[in-house]
Amino acid sequence: MSFERSVKIAPSILSADFANFGAECEAIETQGCDWVHVDVMDGHFVPNITFGPSTCAAIRPHIKGVMDVHLMIAPVDPYIEAFAKAGADVITAHVEAGPHVHRTMQAIRANGAKAGIALNPGTPASAIEYLLDLVDLVCVMTVNPGFGGQKFIHSQIEKVRQLKSMIGGRPVHIEIDGGVDPTTAPLVTQAGADVLVAGSAVFKGGSVSNPDVYGQNIRAIREAAVGVYA
Ligand code: DX5
Ligand code: ZN
Repeated sequence: MSFERSVKIAPSILSADFANFGAECEAIETQGCDWVHVDVMDGHFVPNITFGPSTCAAIRPHIKGVMDVHLMIAPVDPYIEAFAKAGADVITAHVEAGPHVHRTMQAIRANGAKAGIALNPGTPASAIEYLLDLVDLVCVMTVNPGFGGQKFIHSQIEKVRQLKSMIGGRPVHIEIDGGVDPTTAPLVTQAGADVLVAGSAVFKGGSVSNPDVYGQNIRAIREAAVGVYA
């Protein structure tokens, strides 16, 4: 997984058919997505439960590209090895998930994955100032985590700008998660984001038997985003 700053569309399978993850992952990749975003929720850190490492391992053979695993769980550290063994390329944990997130980032890299740090909408950019040399990705939550289909929180655009400047020349991706669609995508790429997670905006109206809609939805987000990406 080499580093580059072009815009990447990462559909969240939270909006896919849960009975058909393998075929859904194959369909979105065939339809032109860049990464596959996998939302893990524990019913404790966030008020919803999805699935764990064994589901990630089951879908891994159906993803050719980057499997981007977003952990909305606390604690994180006891599960890092399992998600790495499941084949995650990127493992992202929340800065709010525990007191020793610095150690968590070291542990993710030690397990051979890229390390991501996510910030909830109420958390300032400064919270991760001392982590920037330890991470490969910063995920700015533009909704409160837990559910797909929520409204984009515009105040986070300024946070993206601040993080872009704090990151400077480091090879660190800025990922946006929540409420990304063709209207909000250009706002965040203009502010410095390069990875756009989109659940409902990619999967709406399509299915594995009607996958062209996924392609149209992915292209609509990409074209809107790239139009202003410098
Ligand atoms: C929210 C998840 C997101 C979510 C995005 O907790 O982390 O990945 O699925 O969904 P949309 O794009 O529908 O806001
Ligand atoms: Zn996510």
